[in-house]
Amino acid sequence: AALWCVVPAAGRGLRFGGDLPKQYLPLGGRPLLLQTLERLARHPRVAGLVVVLAAQDPWWPGADAVNGKPVRTATGGAERADSVLAGLRALPDAVSADDFVLVHDAARPCVRYEDIGRLVAEGVAAGGALLGAPLRDTLKRADEHDRALVTEAREARWRAFTPQLFRRGELIAALERARAEGVAVTDESMAMERAGWRPLLVEGAEDNIKVTTPADLALAEFLLARIG
Ligand code: C5P
Repeated sequence: AALWCVVPAAGRGLRFGGDLPKQYLPLGGRPLLLQTLERLARHPRVAGLVVVLAAQDPWWPGADAVNGKPVRTATGGAERADSVLAGLRALPDAVSADDFVLVHDAARPCVRYEDIGRLVAEGVAAGGALLGAPLRDTLKRADEHDRALVTEAREARWRAFTPQLFRRGELIAALERARAEGVAVTDESMAMERAGWRPLLVEGAEDNIKVTTPADLALAEFLLARIG
């Protein structure tokens, strides 16, 4: 079955600098956010999209469909989890609490189609999953002067990407619980882990970068042209 996808795009992109929020900077001739939405909407497993926007967002073009897939909007909050919760609540009623939903960062325009397909296939079977990649670099813990204090084990360490796939009701409960506990979760899996779940890590391509700096935008342009 096809799945709805929640796309948090309500961050202010402060690390980027500049006037235009990073999700609206041009990538391959259209705004980064639109590039990500079009990519998701073109995937046969995606039924529709909920895009979560900042409260004051004059840049959103107001699309109610992308590539023939319905697009809804929701208003995000101060923390990523607030934005994702708003998106999960804005899903159509036809999406039940037991249905799986995807959550994908607006800032990750280069996710590969085959990785979405594997995430859905393996994640549904596992009861929840996320794309990621095993850590390949050596990992250092630094002191306050950027002096290497200790080398962390590299085994069993993964970098977490999106999309992440969870049941709508279970993810809402986990995010609400993290919020009630005052814990700022940096992805959906973190909320699920804290609630006792063990999401499956599905290895995906490292191309799935999160555009954070202007240099990332140039890299994303290159990657998109290459992966098509
Ligand atoms: O800030 P970061 O790069 O981790 O944001 C990841 C994604 O979450 C981005 O697409 C950003 O727009 C979104 N976000 C959000 N609401 C927030 C913070 C981040 O929708 N309060």
